[in-house]
Amino acid sequence: MTDLTPAGAAALDAVDPLAGFREAFVHDDADPDLIYLDGNSLGRLPMASVALAEDVLRRQWGQRLIRSWNDGWFEVPRLIGDRIAELVGAKPGELVLADATSVVLYKAAVAALKVRPGRTRILTDDLNFPSDVQVLRAAAQAAGPDHEVVILESDGLHGPVDGLSEALGADRGADVALVSLSHVAYGPGWCWDLATTTRAAHEAGALMLWDLCHSVGVVPTDLGAADVDLAVGCTYKYLNGGPGSPAFLYVNADRTDLQNPVRGWYGSDDPMGFGFDAGPAAGASRFLTGTPPILSTVLVEPGVDLILEAGIDRLRAKSVALTERFVALVDLHLAPLGFGVQSPRDPARRGSHVSLRHDAAQAVSQALVNEARVITDSRPPDLIRFGFAPLYIGFADVDEAVRRTAEVVESGGIDRWRGVQPVVP
Ligand SMILES: Cc1ncc(COP(=O)(O)O)c(C=O)c1O
Repeated sequence: MTDLTPAGAAALDAVDPLAGFREAFVHDDADPDLIYLDGNSLGRLPMASVALAEDVLRRQWGQRLIRSWNDGWFEVPRLIGDRIAELVGAKPGELVLADATSVVLYKAAVAALKVRPGRTRILTDDLNFPSDVQVLRAAAQAAGPDHEVVILESDGLHGPVDGLSEALGADRGADVALVSLSHVAYGPGWCWDLATTTRAAHEAGALMLWDLCHSVGVVPTDLGAADVDLAVGCTYKYLNGGPGSPAFLYVNADRTDLQNPVRGWYGSDDPMGFGFDAGPAAGASRFLTGTPPILSTVLVEPGVDLILEAGIDRLRAKSVALTERFVALVDLHLAPLGFGVQSPRDPARRGSHVSLRHDAAQAVSQALVNEARVITDSRPPDLIRFGFAPLYIGFADVDEAVRRTAEVVESGGIDRWRGVQPVVP
């Protein structure tokens, strides 16, 4: 029986093998009580990134100037891609840093549609990130007027597993070119079974494209074992790469038929030949287009190093323990105040954030951020997301976040923040 008292949390923190990683991040000494539960949106700043940023700016750019391209800048999108590859079961050369997630998703989707001529449907679900659906529709439009995106309906909590099997079934699957889903859904945190789903897509003759934004760095993922065709993800959430840090794109090495629809010199096999007729580069690098944003690309590495050092299995074990504790405490203390857990109860089917449903979700989140020193976020219409980044969140943080949530609501916080609409909720 789990001890849900503060003493129980302290006991878990005392034996947490990952507890020391908290000190690898910058914390605001002037705000020691802050509980940061939004690492699923923007990860914390690694200490090592501060020193690296100083070096990149002052020495690499300031002193070495353009010579830095020959000192290593040119290789950075590939080399850091290889580090992330270790994390997701990819081989060297199969993963590269580039663009924003939405952009690499577009490149990947258009490439996939091209190798499935005659098939006109892209399957996704209503838990997918809105930008992904917009991108998939744009890719369908680029492929031709007969192409369409089919959005499978979920119950708002669990992915439409049965709906997907039906849509891929013998009678209906023959015109599906591509299945594209978020591994972990940004709203409820539902986590698809990546291997089984990929197999189902392949059995129907479709390609599989995963969005790993909310799973990379917290959910063990083996793209190679599952024979995934394409995957994308961002580096600014659990990988702690920084605001607007570049996305990554994985392209299965066996899928040499997939070609970048936005060709450019950085994705060519001879970028410095300055010829019009250069061919595509090898591996995922062929999906690069223009000059990579070096400052933000370089700064992805320290966060990835920390994740690799901690180990994805230990991170997952702690993440599950944190979210399980949170769910239990919510049932105990917050359910009577109008909150409901809007994430799967089965931890195997959940990522590292838990969403709570509340009629005044945005006001609750604003009250937490502005009065209770608990940083969460809200998503329309009624979700408050609590993200538990296992590298720097402890068990006492979970207990304290629940205590402060109850306190701020009981003290009338909702009325004080109702109607307040921040730019980023
Ligand atoms: C699941 C998911 N996919 C895609 C995106 C969009 O990423 P980007 O802004 O890098 O295009 C996000 C952003 O939060 C996301 O959560």
